[in-house]
Amino acid sequence: MRYKKGHFYIENVSAKNIARQFGTPSYVYSYSKIKDNIINFKKKFKTINPLICFSVKSNANLHILSLINKFGLGADVVSKGELLVALKAKIKPEKIVFSGVGKTVEELKFAINKKILLINAESENEIIEIEKIAKKSKKKINIGLRLNPDIDAKTLKKISTGKKENKFGLNGKEILKILIKYKNSKFINIICLSVHIGSQITSHIPYKNMLKEVNKIIQKSKYKFEYIDLGGGMGIQYEKKLRKLNYSKYNKLIKSFLSKNNAKIIFEPGRSIVGNAGYLISKITYIKKNNSKNFVILDAAMNDLIRPALYGAKHKIVPSKLSGVKIIKKHEFVGPICETTDKFLTVSKYQKIYQRDMVIICDVGAYGMVLSSNYNLRTKPVEILVNKSSTKIITKRQKLNEIT
Ligand code: LLP
Repeated sequence: MRYKKGHFYIENVSAKNIARQFGTPSYVYSYSKIKDNIINFKKKFKTINPLICFSVKSNANLHILSLINKFGLGADVVSKGELLVALKAKIKPEKIVFSGVGKTVEELKFAINKKILLINAESENEIIEIEKIAKKSKKKINIGLRLNPDIDAKTLKKISTGKKENKFGLNGKEILKILIKYKNSKFINIICLSVHIGSQITSHIPYKNMLKEVNKIIQKSKYKFEYIDLGGGMGIQYEKKLRKLNYSKYNKLIKSFLSKNNAKIIFEPGRSIVGNAGYLISKITYIKKNNSKNFVILDAAMNDLIRPALYGAKHKIVPSKLSGVKIIKKHEFVGPICETTDKFLTVSKYQKIYQRDMVIICDVGAYGMVLSSNYNLRTKPVEILVNKSSTKIITKRQKLNEIT
């Protein structure tokens, strides 16, 4: 934690000053954390020299995407909107991949027109649609096939994607069939095998199993894929007790895979690039005490950050000013929304805090603002980028007259 003289700082700016200047609730991102995360990610996989396509769904802010572009990453998009914002951030089409089970014909046409690197198809019917577009425009289109490897990613059930009961991808048999069917196609060029088994993965074992399944497809088909897209999913440490993904083991597994199969690796990380670089500053509106616990009622709610309500996810909540006095009593941090699940965190003790104090909900850079809504007709928060001592609004706070 970054406290200076008892005050919480994001780079060189205190949370208190940000709150004073921009109000609360506010999403705040650290420029240097994003930069460091990218540098570290590249370092960890340096020896395999992958194409790293940032998963735009985790944070679709134009300014953040411009940073991502500046530091050399491409983009993984799942809708026309994400593709548009990635292009607006000047990410080159040849570094963009498009995934998703339900790409519409309009989205496919748009992506093809923009000449992106590849479309990762998730069903045979999708390939048929791509083929129709290709025939009409007399083009051969590069695609990837997304494998559903039936692997348990050992993560939150709601964010697992690689089990056979999940809607994602094609099973091994279907992939083998499609590879034969489109081998000599004039319109479809299968250049990639892609896979993504889930998010917030903290063990290398599911990845090991995933690579095994990818390998099986290659062995059985004897097909030469130019790219192998391994998706994202690398977990972060939301809580100290959570284990850290062993990147060096994962890297080794990939190296050994590449020693048998010559291909360019693509990654689609989201959370591991921006997750720990985001903070949600919130003010305590009321403290409501009962015998068993203190409800700390914040001005942030599940419409601002839905992960705890939706997935039971835990985000640390730290005070903006240290008081040095501990209260041994249950504290339940909640929002003002009329839903019992509008609850962020329960802890068994907390420092003495008061109404109007600020707290910081940590690690909200990924799947935070992108999942926000106007539920209860609440406006969406402002987004601020901090770089050393400078602060910049990168999305204005929504105004009530924009939604009412
Ligand atoms: N590639 C594909 C095909 C994906 O579906 C995803 C995430 C990613 C890459 C990026 O995964 P990451 O590196 O960020 O784990 N809203 C949930 C997470 C949903 C993830 C969906 N897919 C959450 O807040 O935990």
